[in-house]
Amino acid sequence: MRVISCYSMKGGVGKTATAVNIAYWAAKSGIKTLLIDLDPQGASSFYFRVKPTKKNWGSKFFKAYKELVQHVKASDYENLDIIPAHLSFRNFDTMLGDYNKRTARLRKILKGMSKEYKLVVLDCPPTIGYLSESVFTASDLIFVPVIPTTLSERTYEQLNQFFKKFNYKRNRLVPFFSMVQMQKVLHKRTMETMRSRYNNFMDTIIPFSIDIENMGEHRAPVDTYARSRPANKAYFSLWKEMIPLIKKS
Ligand SMILES: Nc1ncnc2c1ncn2[C@@H]1O[C@H](COP(=O)(O)OP(=O)(O)O)[C@@H](O)[C@H]1O
Ligand SMILES: [Mg+2]
Repeated sequence: MRVISCYSMKGGVGKTATAVNIAYWAAKSGIKTLLIDLDPQGASSFYFRVKPTKKNWGSKFFKAYKELVQHVKASDYENLDIIPAHLSFRNFDTMLGDYNKRTARLRKILKGMSKEYKLVVLDCPPTIGYLSESVFTASDLIFVPVIPTTLSERTYEQLNQFFKKFNYKRNRLVPFFSMVQMQKVLHKRTMETMRSRYNNFMDTIIPFSIDIENMGEHRAPVDTYARSRPANKAYFSLWKEMIPLIKKS
């Protein structure tokens, strides 16, 4: 089993859109996949039309694998299950603060999923704290969407510095450009500087696209309603590029 995450401390960069479409493509390729929505806003659960349980169970999340299993829901797609977010997930950082070995807990708990799943995809909230550190520890690879603007460049730099400072493995960070508008000089220029600065950017670029924005209306992965559109091809290409990286991680 491999664990991958879609992470950035910036909001609105395409983490959820990526988590949803990648989990979909993984499942469609026959890989038994579990998507865990760690963001209390519950956007990826919403896109997959999966309702959270009414139970206020966030406080049990890091206790044991058995707790997690009870909240696994089937999706409309073969090979894809989901643990939807609950509003109580907003307390994860504070909760983890009370545990010892706090950042290793998530990894340990997810190990229990390896009987059932080949891939776990974590959709993360835009924060940097104990939960994100748990995600860094638990993930074999951390996919980071970067909008090619000055501020996003700075955020990505800060993330790298954080990894360096706290001894997380920087080779687990895999950035890719998201919401790209090629007609913008700033986007083109930032992509060039960032590619020369960091040699591990993925080749695939996710364009800014109305078809991706429309996921909210369709509440489904892009492939189900815009099959032949460039945005869908971009996610499929991103997934294909991820496969060898995940295999060797
Ligand atoms: N490539 C894209 N092109 C256009 N809109 C996008 C794209 N990716 C995401 N969006 C839209 O931007 C908003 C934020 O995206 P989302 O994936 O939820 O970001 P995050 O999870 O990083 O906060 C959503 O309304 C989404 O539909
Ligand atoms: Mg999100």
